[in-house]
Amino acid sequence: MLEKNPYRILKAEVLEVTAETPTIKTIRFKPEQPVPFRTGQFIELTIPGVGESPFTPSSKPSINDVLEVSVMKVGKVTEKVHQLKKGDEIGVRGPFGNGYPLDEFKGKEVLVVGGGCGFAPLRSLMYSLFELSGQFKKLCFRGGCKAPSEFLYRKEIEGWAKRPDLNLELTVDKGDESWKGHVGLVTTILDSAQMDYKNGIAILCGPPIMMKFGAKKIMEMGFQEKNLFLSMEKNMSCGIGKCGHCRLGTYYCCKDGPVFRYDQIKNLSEIWD
Ligand SMILES: Cc1cc2nc3c(=O)[nH]c(=O)nc-3n(C[C@H](O)[C@H](O)[C@H](O)COP(=O)(O)OP(=O)(O)OC[C@H]3O[C@@H](n4cnc5c(N)ncnc54)[C@H](O)[C@@H]3O)c2cc1C
Ligand code: FES
Repeated sequence: MLEKNPYRILKAEVLEVTAETPTIKTIRFKPEQPVPFRTGQFIELTIPGVGESPFTPSSKPSINDVLEVSVMKVGKVTEKVHQLKKGDEIGVRGPFGNGYPLDEFKGKEVLVVGGGCGFAPLRSLMYSLFELSGQFKKLCFRGGCKAPSEFLYRKEIEGWAKRPDLNLELTVDKGDESWKGHVGLVTTILDSAQMDYKNGIAILCGPPIMMKFGAKKIMEMGFQEKNLFLSMEKNMSCGIGKCGHCRLGTYYCCKDGPVFRYDQIKNLSEIWD
């Protein structure tokens, strides 16, 4: 089990670095002791001498001695993450936050919608849902990206199409010669899930613009606000509800989230910032 002291940084060794897209790399690392996490929770990753940033593990929660995060290069810390090599030492704190309430999803129809870097936390969620296969009335995945070259885990996700327990459809905003699938925004392929919207569960994770229009579309389809779960990203520091950096209305994203029900946050002006 992890330390009771949430500020203690565990050493971790980088085992593998995989370039997934032009801007996203997956880092596989082994912490000095296991880091048990629930899908949807996040960790703080430290690059010695540079700083720390929150990331949601993209790997299987049932494996906690080796973890993976998929990181988009956007600034100071993430640029250094992209320079990591096998054998480098990094630090890990956590896990933090609430994660997805998987027990609540059992016996229901579940629609998972992702876009861009949002595939990272959703891959971990899908692994957990696959491990509970047979416990949902229906499982649907809808994923979208700007272009085929930006499709995170493309081969793996295309492979999920063969699963009998999954109804899957993917789309890109703009196709190329390698893309034989749907072209258009992810919101245009949600209706084809043909689910029991009123009693179903919807999960949404992606860039703010996709979350905004995705939530609107999911509400129009007839899902209940309390049954739409969004994974929110706010600037964070402590990760444990002390510093106030991640305030979202009356909530702290690090402690009360990062997974929120739509009815908790829908009226907050800063929701899509
Ligand atoms: C709970 C949570 C889970 C996350 N999971 C992932 C993940 O799995 N993969 C991934 O690539 N990214 C994830 N992020 C975003 C990631 O933490 C930021 O991209 C990272 O902290 C940026 O650090 P930087 O030093 O490289 O950028 P900076 O130089 O600090 O800033 C560059 C840009 O990124 C923005 N930014 C900085 N910190 C954050 C932040 N915490 N959240 C959102 N935007 C930020 C800044 O406003 C600025 O526009 C997650 C964020 C949160 C809060
Ligand atoms: S990161 Fe400090 S309160 Fe949330």
